[in-house]
Amino acid sequence: MILVIGATGKVGGQVVRQLRESGARFRALARDPASAHLPGGTEIVRGDLSDPPSLHTALEGVEDVFLVWPFLSSEGAPAVLEVIGGHARRVVYLSSTGVDETADQQADPINRFHADLERLIRNSGLRWTFVRGGGFASNDLQWAEQIRSGDVVHAPFAAGARAVVHEADLAAVAVHTLTTGGHDGKKYEVTGTEVLNTAERVRIIGKVLERPLRLEEVPAEAVRQEMLGAGWPADVVDGILDAHAESGTGGREEPVSPADRITGSPARTYHQWVADHAGDFR
Ligand SMILES: NC(=O)c1ccc[n+]([C@@H]2O[C@H](COP(=O)([O-])OP(=O)(O)OC[C@H]3O[C@@H](n4cnc5c(N)ncnc54)[C@H](OP(=O)(O)O)[C@@H]3O)[C@@H](O)[C@H]2O)c1
Repeated sequence: MILVIGATGKVGGQVVRQLRESGARFRALARDPASAHLPGGTEIVRGDLSDPPSLHTALEGVEDVFLVWPFLSSEGAPAVLEVIGGHARRVVYLSSTGVDETADQQADPINRFHADLERLIRNSGLRWTFVRGGGFASNDLQWAEQIRSGDVVHAPFAAGARAVVHEADLAAVAVHTLTTGGHDGKKYEVTGTEVLNTAERVRIIGKVLERPLRLEEVPAEAVRQEMLGAGWPADVVDGILDAHAESGTGGREEPVSPADRITGSPARTYHQWVADHAGDFR
């Protein structure tokens, strides 16, 4: 029995769908099962990572856990891992390619909590596999409202380039790991199929939607103020914007490591991701 934590989210939702297709036995965790919108017939159990004892019911009889950590710090993770360790034998953790194992403490808070989680999981006594995601293609849904209302996308860092990854490919690696053997202690870096800069991704969205979309670069400071206004912590905002500023510039192009290296099935392109999400942009 597999427990999917983060089952209502972008990657976890795909993990649920692909586990169903595989015929594996699993159940999904949700804070509010009534509003979970998962495929009919999915067993959904209530639980909240910020209340570790609430996880016991969902973990009954569970051997393997797919874990998404939805917080911006690792506070609370030791207690959660203790509860998981009392039931399960293995964790497949959705981590990030931003983890730097050589750093004592990473400056960017998001990379820092992923590095903390990986260390806590390694020391937990559980068997583990890390699925380290590159930048998610789904981050580009932040442009959906602009695209629905006009042909111009205002975004910073036109030249910022990453091999952004389809959530279904991250899920495919997780499901492959959960349902086949030989993945203990592996750290799978999973990116998209090719490095594309911001302007190129906007062009691809336009091509799929058959509309003349174009990018208008805006200063990073304007975006910074917008994110701070929306309540994001300053160190998280700076970490995200610094990573964007550095990506694809100064010879820092990230290595491309698509899901097919691990799953053996064709990896999804950015074009495919846009086609799968065309409804969000229309
Ligand atoms: N965006 C990127 O470029 C990127 C890159 C690498 C790694 N990552 C990592 O990927 C993870 C996010 O994955 P995602 O985008 O698939 O997530 P998401 O779509 O944001 O969904 C978050 C999930 O976490 C669940 N959740 C939130 N608070 C919870 C709580 N207190 N207890 C139990 N469940 C809770 C939500 O469930 P309910 O609200 O239904 O309870 C939902 O299923 C993060 O750890 C992020 O750092 C992101």
